[in-house]
Amino acid sequence: MAAATELRGSAPQTTTGQAGQLPPAPQSVQSAVVQLVDPRETLLPMLEGLSRALGYRRAAVALYDPARAALRGTVGLNVPDALAESIEIPLDEAENPMVMALREGVPLRVDDTRLAHLREDAMSLLLEMEFTSFAVVPLPSESAQFGLASFQGRDVPSVGVVILSKNETITDADLERLMPFAAQAGSALVRASDVERLRDSSEQHAMQKEWLFWMVNSVSDPVILTDANNDIILQNVRAESLFKANPDDSPGKSRAIWMNNFLFTAALSTSVLGQNTAGRATTDLTLVDPIEGTELLFEMRILPATNYFNGARGTVAVLTNITDLRHATEQVTQNVHLLQSAEDEIRQERDRLNLVLRSVPNPIILLDMSNEPILMNHEALRLFQASPIDTNRSRRAQVCVTNEAKFTSFISQLRLDPAQGMSSELVLTDPDSREQLTMSVTSTEVRDDVGAVVATVSVMQDVSRLRELERRRMEQILFDSEKLAATGRLAASIAHEINNPLEAIKNALYLLTNKTHSDDPNAKFLQIATKETDRVSRILRQMLGFYRPPKMEPTDINRLIEESEGLIEKHLRQNRIKLENDLDARLPAVIASADQIKQVLLNLMMNAQQAMPSGGTISVSTRVSHGADPEFLMSDSVHIQIRDTGNGIAEEHLPHIFEPFFSTKDEKGTGLGLWVSQGIVQAHGGSIKLRSRQGRGTTFSVALPIGGPAEHGER
Ligand SMILES: Nc1ncnc2c1ncn2[C@@H]1O[C@H](COP(=O)(O)OP(=O)(O)OP(=O)(O)O)[C@@H](O)[C@H]1O
Ligand SMILES: [Mg+2]
Repeated sequence: MAAATELRGSAPQTTTGQAGQLPPAPQSVQSAVVQLVDPRETLLPMLEGLSRALGYRRAAVALYDPARAALRGTVGLNVPDALAESIEIPLDEAENPMVMALREGVPLRVDDTRLAHLREDAMSLLLEMEFTSFAVVPLPSESAQFGLASFQGRDVPSVGVVILSKNETITDADLERLMPFAAQAGSALVRASDVERLRDSSEQHAMQKEWLFWMVNSVSDPVILTDANNDIILQNVRAESLFKANPDDSPGKSRAIWMNNFLFTAALSTSVLGQNTAGRATTDLTLVDPIEGTELLFEMRILPATNYFNGARGTVAVLTNITDLRHATEQVTQNVHLLQSAEDEIRQERDRLNLVLRSVPNPIILLDMSNEPILMNHEALRLFQASPIDTNRSRRAQVCVTNEAKFTSFISQLRLDPAQGMSSELVLTDPDSREQLTMSVTSTEVRDDVGAVVATVSVMQDVSRLRELERRRMEQILFDSEKLAATGRLAASIAHEINNPLEAIKNALYLLTNKTHSDDPNAKFLQIATKETDRVSRILRQMLGFYRPPKMEPTDINRLIEESEGLIEKHLRQNRIKLENDLDARLPAVIASADQIKQVLLNLMMNAQQAMPSGGTISVSTRVSHGADPEFLMSDSVHIQIRDTGNGIAEEHLPHIFEPFFSTKDEKGTGLGLWVSQGIVQAHGGSIKLRSRQGRGTTFSVALPIGGPAEHGER
């Protein structure tokens, strides 16, 4: 590759190649003003030479000025400059000897007679310069470039005339002798003019080159001119930074530049294939940044160039850096891929979600903040949206509309009253079976990134069946308790009827026993009769206590406990049993029958005592519960706990201990204590439960609603 000529101006290299930041015009541009050669510098020595050699005293030169079509005085010898320069003879003064000499190209001798033909101002000027008799010699021109093209259709062969006078008369021989000098002066003038033109044109060239330099280097893209062999002829500064090697370059930079030249030439050679009819082509070119070592991507536009001066052909290559563009494009492509895969993922996610929503049998509804449905699963659609085949007035469509209205007002209510919680029940109608559906609805607020509520998702659970079972259970309980009450009433009325004759029997037995001596053989029969009547009496007492019409009134449970304990205190002490109380002082009064609850407390305490034949501890505690117990969710309740350290209840006895007449105490127990107690507690709307571990003890828990039984007083 031939060494490239750089297109370089006089501006410092560091400022090149940055369009819009041009430094002030360089010095060379300012000095490029055309300086005309003063013709006097050529003519004056000639006039002086003539004066010396041929004895001429005075002389003046008038040169042809094509712009004014006149001969104009330029220089004089022994003639004042002002006079010499004031000569101006238009070329159309054909009679003027100076015009004649110029146009004919022949010398003339002029004397008084000739002068007489001249215009007055011209004649007086000549006389003033003391030219009375003189010679006019043309200064021949050899060069057509001088600009003396023609005057009135004729070539003018001279560049001007010289007029000379001396003391003696001028002869033809003098004229002959002057001719060679005149010819010499003419061509000297022409040469001077040529030199001047040349200088002028090279200044112009320098100026143009300077502007060209700025023009090409203002482009931040590399611009390269190559010849027919793809060798670089010219390149701008940016191109030099990529392609021009310097002797002091590092080995790495030299290698990069060598590589760039190689790649560029290769691309140029192959670009021929892509040329269009106008010889233009565009191709991509990858180069190396010689400083950074990084990859640079260019788009190379190739345009053909012809030097019409010598007919040589070349190529102009303009490289546009598209590294960033390419990277941006790659980034965009990558982002598009990422977006596509994200979209795929979202689609898959949505499909999965749809599958889940379809498979869930519970209705699921997503509502926006204006209660417009965003999403409904299949089951929700069935309940709330009439299908297209359902006409507006069809029963099914109406059910759907009603369901939707119910649900919307339900959700609005939930939103209005957050204290209510987001879970509640709603009764809808099945559009297909027309059945009533009790739906347990759980709504959750959907929040966006900044925590604002944007939607509500509601999941419904059909609890109709559950509620139906509950209803049946309640009915059964009611039925059972009614049965129990009826049994109780029957038992109590029998007990009442038996009680009076029994009292009479007991009195009779008492009298008989008092009258019978202990040695009497009948005394033992009397003892048996007394024991058995006592037993019958105990049974009747239990029965009557249960039945006795209860007096429901606010009752202090703690006081009842203390009273009951007072009744058996002595008995407990005798049996080495300790009593421990932990009674809640803030216990509210309970609507209850004090007599009946006391009977329950005594039954439980007596059982505890009987379970501890060798002594122990009975712990009694009370507490209040505010709706926390699953059994009394809606109401507050009072809980009584009676714990003993006795022998506990055998596992196999547990299912039977509330049954009437179940006892493990032989004839000492009637087996009615717990049965009656449970009846009383249940009649109060409460419950009785126990925990027992054999050998460790038993705990009975009685819970009573503070407000008493729901329908107290109805028994
Ligand atoms: N605290 C207890 N510890 C151990 N067993 C108990 C306890 N309470 C009740 N039982 C068992 O439950 C049975 C039934 O008790 P329930 O009070 O109904 O009848 P009873 O105590 O046997 O007779 P009654 O109460 O008429 O004297 C008892 O016989 C006993 O086996
Ligand atoms: Mg008992």
